[in-house]
Amino acid sequence: MTEQRSSQWYAGSDRNAYLHRAWMRRGVPSSAFEGRPQIAIANTASDLTPCNAHLNEVAESVKHGIYEAGGIPLNLPVVSLGETNVRPTAMLWRNMAAMATEEMLRANPIDGVVLLGGCDKTIPSLLMAAASVDIPALVVPGGPMLNGTFRGVPLGCGTDVWKLSEEVRAGTLSEKLFLKSESSMIRSKGHCNTMGTASTMGLLAEALGTVIPGLAGTPAPDARLLEAAHESGRLAVEMVAAGRTPSQVITKESFHNAIVALAAIGGSTNAVVHLLAIAGRLGIDLTLDDFDRIGADVPLLVNLQPAGKYLMEDLHRAGGFLAVLQQVKDLLNPTAITVTGEPLVSYLEDEQIWDRDVIREREQPLIDEAGIAVLYGNLAPTGAIIKPAAASPELLSHRGKAVVFESVEDLHERIDDPDLEVDATSVLVLRGCGPKGYPGMPEVSNMPLPKKLLEQGVRDMVRVCDGRMSGTAYGTVVLHVTPEAAAGGLLGLVENGDEIVLDVEGRRLELNVPEEELQQRRVPASTADAFAAPTRGWEKLYVEHVQQANSGADLDFLIGASGPDVARESH
Ligand code: FES
Repeated sequence: MTEQRSSQWYAGSDRNAYLHRAWMRRGVPSSAFEGRPQIAIANTASDLTPCNAHLNEVAESVKHGIYEAGGIPLNLPVVSLGETNVRPTAMLWRNMAAMATEEMLRANPIDGVVLLGGCDKTIPSLLMAAASVDIPALVVPGGPMLNGTFRGVPLGCGTDVWKLSEEVRAGTLSEKLFLKSESSMIRSKGHCNTMGTASTMGLLAEALGTVIPGLAGTPAPDARLLEAAHESGRLAVEMVAAGRTPSQVITKESFHNAIVALAAIGGSTNAVVHLLAIAGRLGIDLTLDDFDRIGADVPLLVNLQPAGKYLMEDLHRAGGFLAVLQQVKDLLNPTAITVTGEPLVSYLEDEQIWDRDVIREREQPLIDEAGIAVLYGNLAPTGAIIKPAAASPELLSHRGKAVVFESVEDLHERIDDPDLEVDATSVLVLRGCGPKGYPGMPEVSNMPLPKKLLEQGVRDMVRVCDGRMSGTAYGTVVLHVTPEAAAGGLLGLVENGDEIVLDVEGRRLELNVPEEELQQRRVPASTADAFAAPTRGWEKLYVEHVQQANSGADLDFLIGASGPDVARESH
């Protein structure tokens, strides 16, 4: 058996071992330093991340499991990101959270780690960190909140906010009723209950093999979450003994399974950048084309908002994530293992669907092909994506004249201007929202429709942007356009009235402007020059090093793993 990592701190009788042990004692028995696995609980609980505020309770159950299995639990509060609060966008801080967690895992006497996340960026950042350090790690997703109800019908976080606010703008819902819905929407602990990014990433963490099978999607207030948290603590200790690290669990094969799952659940487009970033940390060659190729024939089986009508509590009641995977078992890679050491597919045998309207059988999907489509063309030479399942079928092949907005602020200032030259066939273009340009790549691509068109009954238009879109949003939205405008992409040269062609079936996104004309527009200054570069702090580091969305928007110097070894003593 190889030496336990924490023994490098605690073993022996010299002065250094004395220093490491003595300060950690505080009532802890000597046996704690005699080869018992030291298991960190990387905890993103924070009052400012309300979706994760209950994770301290979850951590207690994890602790019990760790003790029970003979390990030593160590609470490790890590950077937490509350999606609805953090400015200018939580995505700006995902890589910082991942980097800080990575370094704290490396710096401390830790043999394994249980990762507690929930709100959108927290599970991705934790997995990026654990993948980089490559010590035994597993995730306990904090789980979704219970269904909200309003006026007798379910109310989903996010998705219904967009719908209700559009209704207010269209004049079909009073502001008073709109405000009344606010307290009905968020009625329990947990993260957003639609198939948004948090739900998606919790489930995909399980598809990747990093969660005890059957746990992801358990609602936050459900006692079974604590039971599984306890079990996760036990398993972390076993994983240390087995030397089962993220690089053994998260493989190209498990990304294959995650991409199949992403399509079958109708998951968030944000999963694309997060999975690419996690793969980058492990040196796995995952590309945008893998998403298109692997997801292409996968049917949409989960009838959850925003693509359908139910919420996460319903998915759990209907049989849960494993019942979904059971329907597409033949599309999954049978060799990809989970944190238990057993293949994911070995957990699917006895799974059943209990409500066939929530989880559809393979023969009766909501949509036959639910994968994310990757578009190329002069507007996106290195790729852009669209989620056809969330789009209007009649707009998937479209040509229209561009109406350009330079920034989110410009959009908000002019979108409802009665004099804005726009009609239902126009293509709304928003730039300055990529990783460098904003900076941080906010969820603004599903830009609001012009009020005057909403009043005419228009409910969807083709929109093109270099930013992201909330997983709870919907519409015919081309997003993650690369290169972004601020990195010299053609998106920065589009002018009002230019023709844009979207052909999802042909996977094309083109700007119909002659090359000579574009050359003239490039001189004297491109839009890229108009962006003011940050001068200090994380933003400066981020803008100087962030990669484009097609590579996962990670920092270039964080690609690859750091590994668990830190040779130098602290004193
Ligand atoms: Fe936290 Fe939606 S705001 S998951």
